[in-house]
Amino acid sequence: MNTYSRIAGTGSYLPERVITNADLEEMVDTSDEWIRSRSGIRERRIAAEDEFTCDLAERAALSAIESAGTTPGDIDLIIVATTTPDLVFPSTACLLQERLGVAGAPAFDVQAVCAGFLFAIDVADKFIRTGSATRALVIGAETFSRIVDWTDRRVCVLFGDGAGAVVLEADERPGILSTHLHSDGRYNDLLCVPVGVSRNFDKIKVGEAFATMDGGEVFRWAVTAMSDIIDETLVANSMDRTQIDWLVPHQANIRIINAVGKRARIPGEKVIVTVDRHGNTSAASVPLALDEGVRDGRIRQGDHVLIEGFGGGFTWGSALIRM
Ligand code: UT7
Repeated sequence: MNTYSRIAGTGSYLPERVITNADLEEMVDTSDEWIRSRSGIRERRIAAEDEFTCDLAERAALSAIESAGTTPGDIDLIIVATTTPDLVFPSTACLLQERLGVAGAPAFDVQAVCAGFLFAIDVADKFIRTGSATRALVIGAETFSRIVDWTDRRVCVLFGDGAGAVVLEADERPGILSTHLHSDGRYNDLLCVPVGVSRNFDKIKVGEAFATMDGGEVFRWAVTAMSDIIDETLVANSMDRTQIDWLVPHQANIRIINAVGKRARIPGEKVIVTVDRHGNTSAASVPLALDEGVRDGRIRQGDHVLIEGFGGGFTWGSALIRM
């Protein structure tokens, strides 16, 4: 008998502080009109100074664990997708494991920027299908505001902080029907933080570790990659686009989301959108949107949900889920 993984519960958490476009008008040379028309973003949440990625991850994790009707002690795999870990090491997943009061099960981070949650789901699904885990906690959590230059209007208006989580459980019935991952490292410099531990560490020491991007190129790539991967996912499952109940795309820009929906011929009313209120929360964006759709009753048991992400690297991925 085959073993599959199913989503048993979802959760999310957003920091309390809201930064509106009007607030940003006070900080940089921008306007509410420009931000809304170019990105669809109205506001975003920003973590408090003493609030870290692990804090956000913990709140989302506890909410997913509760909705799955399980306990931290029953989790036997923890994967955190993040670009903004609390520390260089240990991983945010290990910090979270301690917070959850459990020990022993493998806990690690994955780094694929805005596609990180898709990479984490793929890995967790494989752990479960091969019998290495039975109940996995998979989280996307970011304090992206920490790597944003709040004087750079091209970048600071786009991002926000948050966390989303799912509990995946082993089941005889397929829940995750397929996962698809891709990377193309040739474009690493189009969307990056060009400093790290081993390179340009001096800039970190003086607080200059900021995200940079070629917005236009990233936009074009995101639309193509996220449209093509919908086709790839449908072909792999011998499914027609009309069988998709919900599309949950990475939330970077409403124009990207609309262009992907148009190319994939998935009507807007089947697309979950949070970018207007969350901005781009990187690895957290897909599980945040998924949790919103589940909690407000749009996404129901038995629905076919296609989740997808695109981010720096470039990296992109999708998963087709039967809820
Ligand atoms: O998760 C993946 C991460 N990132 C993305 O997916 C982002 C992908 N790219 C985008 O979303 C869009 O390219 C942006 C929202 C970043 C920019 O939209 P755009 O329509 O491509 O605008 P643009 O970059 O062509 O800029 C148009 C103008 C420029 O002025 P000039 O050169 O035409 O005089 C910019 O300097 O808008 C200017 N501009 C701004 N003006 C007001 C750039 N940022 C701002 C701003 N406020 N915040």
